[in-house]
Amino acid sequence: MTLNNLTDLQVEQLRRSLLQWYNKQGRDLPWRRTTDPYPIWVSEIMLQQTQVKTVIPYYERWLIQFSTISQVAQAELQTVLKAWEGLGYYARGRNLHKAAQVVTQIYESRFPDQLEKVLALPGIGRTTAGGILSAAFNQPISILDGNVKRVLSRLIALPVIPTEALSELWALSDRLLDPDQPRDFNQALMDLGATVCTRSQPNCVECPWNFACEAYNKKIQNQLPIRKMSVPLPHKRIGVAVIFNDEGLILIDRRPEGGLLGGLWEFPGGKIEPNETVEQCVEREILEEIGIAIAVGENLITIDHAYTHFRVTLQVHLCRYVSGTPQTIECDEIRWVSLDEIDQFPVPKANSQIITALKERDRLNNLVK
Ligand code: ADE
Repeated sequence: MTLNNLTDLQVEQLRRSLLQWYNKQGRDLPWRRTTDPYPIWVSEIMLQQTQVKTVIPYYERWLIQFSTISQVAQAELQTVLKAWEGLGYYARGRNLHKAAQVVTQIYESRFPDQLEKVLALPGIGRTTAGGILSAAFNQPISILDGNVKRVLSRLIALPVIPTEALSELWALSDRLLDPDQPRDFNQALMDLGATVCTRSQPNCVECPWNFACEAYNKKIQNQLPIRKMSVPLPHKRIGVAVIFNDEGLILIDRRPEGGLLGGLWEFPGGKIEPNETVEQCVEREILEEIGIAIAVGENLITIDHAYTHFRVTLQVHLCRYVSGTPQTIECDEIRWVSLDEIDQFPVPKANSQIITALKERDRLNNLVK
């Protein structure tokens, strides 16, 4: 089966079997109990790079904290990033905040129902727009997220990497979409990808589309979709300083808004150069970035973390402030805070581990005293 020779009858059979399966096996997810575009929008943004089970508690907390779009718009970016803390891909939170301000100012706080207007909002691409408009307004707009790409690639035994056949896959998603039940059809397609047509060990015996699936018929479902040759992720070693001043306060800085983890707070540091010890790196970085002299002490913790395009190892050292006035040379803001105050600031996941290690050290020190 290819896109070109799908008959109307086949399309009809595929729609009917998928919807029947969804009626019995579809997941009961919180954002499916509403047709209000605001919570649906929030869910679609959170689900862009993150699994359903991780998203659910964030989604529920978010709607308690920000019950309307204008509440998001009026919040400080820092408050929004704090609510996003731990979800990763923080540009999503920043865009949600920006888009909420656009919706509030231009559309009187009502989420638009026209595709061009939705696509013009920050953080919303074609599949997210289709996900929102079909779920909220039952509009016949197709989707093509990672799971759907995999399902459709197997259905037609796509002989190339999905990213090289995007227009064909979009056309297939358009062709299959049930114009009478677009909401349920898209949700069903996502569930099929998430629960049956999984990346490894797809459960083809239970699949409502097995009768038509080219990959299943050829017994090549485990080889599809074809993957790009994987290249090992580059690895960076980073020296990180937890700097205490004489009052026992700790220095944190806010990363510039544009870049990776923009707007989040962190313990300062930087890349360990070849032929440099961690201690030398930390001392140099803090002088370059913050403009102060420190004395570098013992290792607190070493953390490995994988981002999408690289891996990092953070070697964290306890340090003591010596001299100089902190300056915002490579960051937007600097603060001296107590260990208790740190929790109010949004920090990247790896930095939460540093805070946990600091609290544990504090607890042990108090026991000894
Ligand atoms: N991923 C993206 N949108 C989704 C939805 N509405 N339900 C489940 N997973 C999703």
